[in-house]
Amino acid sequence: MKRTKIAELIGHAPENQKVLVQGWVKSHREYPDVSFVALNDGSTIKTMQIVLDANFKAEYEAAHPDQDYKELMKSINTGAAISVVGHLVPSEGKGQTSEVKATGLKVFSPFNPDFPLQKKGATLEFLREKMHLRPRSNTFGAVFRIRSAAAFAIHKFFTEKGFFYVHTPIITGSDTEGAGELFHVTTLPLNNIPKTADGEVDYEQDFFGKSAHLTVSGQLNGETFAMALGDIYTFGPTFRAENSNTSRHLAEFWMVEPEMAFYDIEMNQDLAEEFIKYVIQYVMDHCADDLEFFDEFGHTLNQGVGKRELKARLNFVLKHKFKRITYTEAVEILQSASKKFEYPVKWGSDLQSEHERYLVEDHFKKPVIVTDYPKDIKAFYMKLNDDGKTVRGMDVLFPGIGEIIGGSQREEDYDKLVKRIHEMGLPEEEYWWYLDTRRFGSAPHSGFGLGFARLLMFLTGMTNIRDVIPFPRYPRNAEF
Ligand code: 4AD
Ligand code: MG
Repeated sequence: MKRTKIAELIGHAPENQKVLVQGWVKSHREYPDVSFVALNDGSTIKTMQIVLDANFKAEYEAAHPDQDYKELMKSINTGAAISVVGHLVPSEGKGQTSEVKATGLKVFSPFNPDFPLQKKGATLEFLREKMHLRPRSNTFGAVFRIRSAAAFAIHKFFTEKGFFYVHTPIITGSDTEGAGELFHVTTLPLNNIPKTADGEVDYEQDFFGKSAHLTVSGQLNGETFAMALGDIYTFGPTFRAENSNTSRHLAEFWMVEPEMAFYDIEMNQDLAEEFIKYVIQYVMDHCADDLEFFDEFGHTLNQGVGKRELKARLNFVLKHKFKRITYTEAVEILQSASKKFEYPVKWGSDLQSEHERYLVEDHFKKPVIVTDYPKDIKAFYMKLNDDGKTVRGMDVLFPGIGEIIGGSQREEDYDKLVKRIHEMGLPEEEYWWYLDTRRFGSAPHSGFGLGFARLLMFLTGMTNIRDVIPFPRYPRNAEF
């Protein structure tokens, strides 16, 4: 017999049909002549009530004369893995419409009193130390079902729009962002690194014959495909060796990067807004139970999140058009704000998280897209405006998160691009193939990168980015 997942079973009318359910015990309530087991199989946050009644006991004892029924009952407790055959019947109890009246039971793995997730109300910090077991908690089960649905929604959105999914490389020789936050990839012996005559590392002897590292972004490779297939996107892991121990940064995170031929910065903003709204709507439509859980209980886990705030926030974002302002306008607003910032606001310096959040949460009270940043604080590939000072970059800022998307119209002019590479002190020869796209059939194009984990923070209301990725990597932590 094939098992039916509990998510599916909940939708079935109970007509005494025979079913097989398999999962992990959440709780077990024992009474003198009946026992109720709440079983979860991960397919939903909901549990199926398993009823072990007097009939079951009599039949079990007759079939297993050498076994102690009391011991069996003890073995079925929080964390145990079991398999149950029974009949789906209407439930007399409160809280569920159907339940499984057991006729057969198999214990794969009995209750172990050392199971760390037995007590309710474990903190997120505690669960972070049990990264390998935390998916079994209600909270993390919900996070990762939502993560899966959101990933699917991303593919669905772009596929429906005629975008092609391109797999850009993980190991690369070019630094897209030019920020130097790279994890090197090498097979050179670390205790005896070969050096050239002038004392540099001799990468000639390394695996790739040159210096290589984990990618910080698939954008540059993505651009070469946009100049061929038109509209493309990448969705994969990216890596940054920035030593920032914050609740919004990971050393390994997934990024979605669409890149579109013939798009200008306006079209880029339109797409970004439509895209985020689509994914939010999809998750609201397909993860109702998990969102309901966060809506009701999220505030008990995360500081600064109100009860019944999450769904209202998601709906609010769906309903309102994102505010679009330039960096220069943003600076003016921040400078005339009565709020005192830790970092002073000055034209030319990057917006800090506190500034971004002021714009979104206090001033406009909705998502904001900031464009036209000073060229010196943005990457080399962004298209230079006619003023010669600003570039056509855009950051999408979200409540509670700050920057969720970073993107730009790209510089399509060969000479201007080379000039920017030199101005930023980057090695032109490393970018020869990228520059070729500006020599052959160059055309206006744009793209952006969405930090998938940051979107998940918004979708779930989780306030620490380490709690929305299965196995977070951050400074001094690569356990699991
Ligand atoms: O703004 P970023 O650095 O932009 C790029 O990498 C561009 N190449 C994207 C493009 O235009 N194709 O990063 C994009 C997004 C940020 O807005 C943020 O959401 C996320 O990636 N991000 C991080 N998420 C988690 N941990 C980190 N350390 C992150 N750094 C960036
Ligand atoms: Mg950015």
